[in-house]
Amino acid sequence: MEELNDREKRVDILNVVAELTREISITDSLENMIHTFTTRFSEVFPFKHIIIWLFNDELNNLTQAYSTIPGDRTLSLDDDNIVVSAVKENRTIYIPDFSKERRFTPFLEGGLSGIVIPLSSFEKVRGAIHIESHAREYFSENIILYLNVLANQLAVALRNYHLFNRVQSLKNYLDTLIEKVNAIMFVMDSVGRIKRVNEAAEKYTEYSREELYGTLGVNLIASPEKRRAIMAIIPSLRKGEFISGVEVEIATKSGGRRFVLFNFGGILESAGRLKEIIAIGQDITRTKETEMQLMQAEKLALIGQIASSIIHEINNPLALISSYAEVMCMKAESEGRTEDVNKLKVILKNTDRLTKLAQNLMNFVRPGGSELSKINLNEAIEEAVKWVEPMLRKGNIHIVKELGENLPPVKGNKTEIQQIFLNLMSNAIHAMEKKTGKITITTEYVNNGYVAMVITDEGTGIKQQDLKRIFEPFFTTKPAGKGTGLGLSIVQRILERHNARIAVKSKVGVGTSVRVLLPRAEEEGIR
Ligand SMILES: Nc1ncnc2c1ncn2[C@@H]1O[C@H](COP(=O)(O)OP(=O)(O)OP(=O)(O)O)[C@@H](O)[C@H]1O
Ligand SMILES: [Mg+2]
Repeated sequence: MEELNDREKRVDILNVVAELTREISITDSLENMIHTFTTRFSEVFPFKHIIIWLFNDELNNLTQAYSTIPGDRTLSLDDDNIVVSAVKENRTIYIPDFSKERRFTPFLEGGLSGIVIPLSSFEKVRGAIHIESHAREYFSENIILYLNVLANQLAVALRNYHLFNRVQSLKNYLDTLIEKVNAIMFVMDSVGRIKRVNEAAEKYTEYSREELYGTLGVNLIASPEKRRAIMAIIPSLRKGEFISGVEVEIATKSGGRRFVLFNFGGILESAGRLKEIIAIGQDITRTKETEMQLMQAEKLALIGQIASSIIHEINNPLALISSYAEVMCMKAESEGRTEDVNKLKVILKNTDRLTKLAQNLMNFVRPGGSELSKINLNEAIEEAVKWVEPMLRKGNIHIVKELGENLPPVKGNKTEIQQIFLNLMSNAIHAMEKKTGKITITTEYVNNGYVAMVITDEGTGIKQQDLKRIFEPFFTTKPAGKGTGLGLSIVQRILERHNARIAVKSKVGVGTSVRVLLPRAEEEGIR
């Protein structure tokens, strides 16, 4: 190997070292790295017997990543040989003459000299370059120097490779975490344009990431005031502050609403400028709804208390006023005082309305617990239809009855079920006031223990935004003095007592269909 000492060869080696360093630092797999290394290596060093050992952290052993010495070997760190010693002690071991060596034997059959250079960087040994020869004292000082330089390069490349792998798997792990976690995540740039979202954010907003990227995050917020409030926290984010517990109502793509509790954080650049805004949110729509229902229930209880005391105060004087007015009206009529008759009729009309309001309030606040028995739904309906007939004559409305045959009896209170029917019919008739058309009353057994009563009208329909409010007490779209807004609240009250359900389908300009499901009575002793 004397020829390696001449100048030209040295330059050549340095070139190869430089090239090799570059090449192995950009390889994507361990196999490619070792392959590139050994190919380049063999171009400058004509060694015939070489093994590249790699240390496996998990198994605590050394395996051959490359070998031109026959045999399949795996070395345990408990073994005693030249390779394990070099790796454990992290030092180059050179045996110029195995025949004079007491401790170590060659791996190569008839090998006379050998060298093992650990591949170590930052005190961590990742393997070794192991070369043997059939010649004595084969490795000059110069060669050993070169080999050390190359081993260093390979060790650094191995370290980088492992670091890169660690970073990559950490990144994959984080990516998966961000994607799959059930928190809504938005990453925005310093002015609030969305840069990245996760699956949950897509699911909750109903927008795809393509639709979201580049748009302003605040645009998802339903109310303009809240938007401004959120914009106002940006200065705090600029200081890198974390702002938690911000409740936001998000407008979804399909026009729905979702309540999300957000935490905001500002990510600063090294220069201290705001780089990204991170918003992590939790869907609290359900909690919010329950909260609102609770408030509603409280409101109802309060209304109930107020109403019952007022009704007491109102009822008696009202009855008095209307009976006196009636007497006076009859008298005036018989005396031919037309003007007085008209005035008295106005009084009577208004007292009637007040009586109806008091009646409705009474029904609304009346405590439940009325007896439930077996009711023939069709009979109850037939009876109640007669009561609404006078109301129909006003308009051009006709009723179509599609009452199911052999319905099982329902479990209920007849008066109350008729009240439900009347309230629903009254709504349907009002909705058709200015129209011609039919109201269809359907009853049927729905085969899961329920009997359905469906009232379908061809009236005005209910606007989407009103639909969720129609059961609220005092919600009405009727002109002042016409509706109390209690009809459906009463219906709902009664249905709760009956363990019944209600569903409303409506289309503006087409009509409304209200479906009430009443539980059937138990089997024995029907009818
Ligand atoms: N069949 C229907 N068609 C169209 N709108 C309806 C129908 N049923 C209910 N609504 C809407 O729901 C609102 C609330 O109904 P609810 O019966 O509770 O009160 P109301 O009818 O306004 O008053 P009241 O029942 O005291 O006459 C109505 O004002 C109306 O806007
Ligand atoms: Mg009504």
